[in-house]
Amino acid sequence: MPYKKSILVLLVIVSFIAVGSANGFLNKAKNLKVLPKNISDEALDSIMQSYNVALGVECSFCHVVKDDMPDYASDENPAKDVARKMIAMTIDINKKYFNTDPKIHPAYLNTVRCFTCHKGDAYPQGQE
Ligand code: HEC
Ligand code: HEC
Repeated sequence: MPYKKSILVLLVIVSFIAVGSANGFLNKAKNLKVLPKNISDEALDSIMQSYNVALGVECSFCHVVKDDMPDYASDENPAKDVARKMIAMTIDINKKYFNTDPKIHPAYLNTVRCFTCHKGDAYPQGQE
């Protein structure tokens, strides 16, 4: 089951990236430090959804919510910076250790992705 789910997420990401590049890369994100700044809204959304699935969490695991309003650009939630390191690590692993397509931005490579280690668990070693 988790395997099927991850394939589905992958297909969704790939198709959103395809549509995003056709649309000419416009987005409203203000505070991207690791993901490509010209990522489309659709691709960003799809990647964020994939984090929820990979870690078995909601968006608020990494993003602060104030008065029921999520502030996605804020860095106040420390889990967001941990996630940035994880994204950078995952990009590095794919770029350095797999025979990947140099024409694809490394942030979109996913031979190894969050789900590979996390498998629906925010703490893959089993800590609470
Ligand atoms: C595992 C942690 C994690 C989860 C879960 C997560 N995000 Fe994010 N999100 C991040 C990180 C890290 C960034 C910043 C990436 C960067 O710096 O390139 C980000 C950036 C964003 C941004 C861009 C904000 C800006 O203006 O710069 C949006 C929008 C966003 N997330 C929405 C969501 C939504 C919606 C969900 C739930 C479906 C979600 N995120 C779940 C970690 C997470
Ligand atoms: C190579 C394996 C691996 C990959 C790939 C990986 N992670 Fe992790 N991640 C871990 C391990 C192991 C831990 C637990 C570390 C600990 O408990 O000290 C962890 C912890 C985290 C945490 C911290 C939870 C907390 O609050 O302490 C976040 C957030 C996270 N990962 C997000 C991500 C995201 C997002 C991705 C994909 C971009 C990702 N990880 C990819 C292995 C991985």
